[in-house]
Amino acid sequence: MSDEYYQMLRGKLDARAARVGVIGLGYVGLPLAVEFARAGFVTTGIDLDARKIDAVNQGTSYIPDVPTSEVARLVADRKLRATNDFSCVAELDTINICVPTPLRKTKDPDMSYIVSAVEQIANYLHRGMLIVLESTTYPGTTEELVQPMLEAGGLKAGVDFFLAFSPERVDPGNPTFNTHNVPKVVGGLGRESTELAAALYGAAIETIVPVSSPQAAEMVKLLENTFRMVNIGLVNEIALMCDRLGIDVWEVVKAAATKPFGFMPFYPGPGLGGHCIPIDPFYLSWKAKQNGFDPRFIELAGQINGAMPHFVVDKIGDALNRHQKSINGSTILILGLAYKRDIDDMRESPSLDVMALLHQKGATIRYADPYVPTLAARAWHGGFDMQTEPLTPQAIAAADCVAILTEHRTVDYGMVLNSAKLVVDTRNAIAGSHAHVLKLGAPAPALPVAIPGCEKAMA
Ligand SMILES: NC(=O)c1ccc[n+]([C@@H]2O[C@H](COP(=O)([O-])OP(=O)(O)OC[C@H]3O[C@@H](n4cnc5c(N)ncnc54)[C@H](O)[C@@H]3O)[C@@H](O)[C@H]2O)c1
Repeated sequence: MSDEYYQMLRGKLDARAARVGVIGLGYVGLPLAVEFARAGFVTTGIDLDARKIDAVNQGTSYIPDVPTSEVARLVADRKLRATNDFSCVAELDTINICVPTPLRKTKDPDMSYIVSAVEQIANYLHRGMLIVLESTTYPGTTEELVQPMLEAGGLKAGVDFFLAFSPERVDPGNPTFNTHNVPKVVGGLGRESTELAAALYGAAIETIVPVSSPQAAEMVKLLENTFRMVNIGLVNEIALMCDRLGIDVWEVVKAAATKPFGFMPFYPGPGLGGHCIPIDPFYLSWKAKQNGFDPRFIELAGQINGAMPHFVVDKIGDALNRHQKSINGSTILILGLAYKRDIDDMRESPSLDVMALLHQKGATIRYADPYVPTLAARAWHGGFDMQTEPLTPQAIAAADCVAILTEHRTVDYGMVLNSAKLVVDTRNAIAGSHAHVLKLGAPAPALPVAIPGCEKAMA
């Protein structure tokens, strides 16, 4: 039977006549749904969030990398719509699952979103469908968790329906690489599932990279994110070393990056953030430990990266100390809340940890981020809601210390440099050396106030 279903779905995919669905319309799902719709498929997005559904159906984008004009055009052309009604699955030929995969506090994978979405699909699963999991997860999820849930109703994967895993590689805020032009790795349960998933993506995405199994595809994503996490951990440790040795890590990385082979620059910072790099490697770690394997690199990088917000707080304390001030009682302006530059995503942002730590030590905390107008109390564990400060010379000058934690490109760092009393720069946003700027991983400038007998040791 599978060949008959394969031919049927293959024909629909090649003719762009397949009705495609995307479950979870977030940073991953909305851009993907838009690409499918642009490729000519009638695309249905399914989400639980009524605001997202309304926005899409009104032709509005809430994801910065997806232009509203594009959503409006596709909705007007009846190529894209959104709903919270899972019964539409009965009418769909393909489904991509793009729901969150957070970690529990214990660093165990939280599979509840995948389980909930797959339960809903299982209610309406029908012969000849293709289901593709995109959420980042531990190797084995597609075959050990998703497949049995879908087969519980009696249909068999690879025979009655098709199943694959394809990791999402979206990089929010990247002006060069987007869902359309980043190669897509696809691993299906058997040749037909892989080929159908490749045909679906091939209609909308430039390059498809088939691998031998869902498990291999799951592992590809975890290798990529572990690679980043470990290398960021390495460069953060080098930054701590440079800080101790009085060497400028930024100068060192820049010069090392001129090597045309065998080196790839990673940059230090206040810690890891986002929905992927701080989380995904622990999915792998959890699975490895279950199989009696101790993943040492992941744990070590996790410790180093996790300690960076504490190091930044110490650096701010040192900086204030040089001005005869303490953290307790000082006003500290956090410049940049998002976990990386030029985006609005604050998930797992180290800025939130730094703010909470400074608050606990008695500082008065303010923040400025052009992408994050408001901050709820629960997001930063500070006990009160906040609003961004205007990025004016007055607001900058009002702080005892400005801590640059995210280097958004729209910020005028010349103005920050000229207005601030004191700056702790964790991103090398301010070029050159200045008496009132302390950089993460770089020698401190000469003390503004000389302490008799300590000038050399402290400088
Ligand atoms: N954001 C990234 O940069 C990125 C990059 C690569 C991979 N990923 C992975 O992709 C997956 C999705 O991440 P995201 O950033 O798009 O998350 P997100 O939180 O932006 O979006 C997830 C969406 O799923 C919806 N949702 C949750 N449960 C649902 C359910 N049962 N049914 C229907 N909708 C449901 C939520 O309302 C939300 O709109 C995660 O596994 C993540 O690790 C994310």
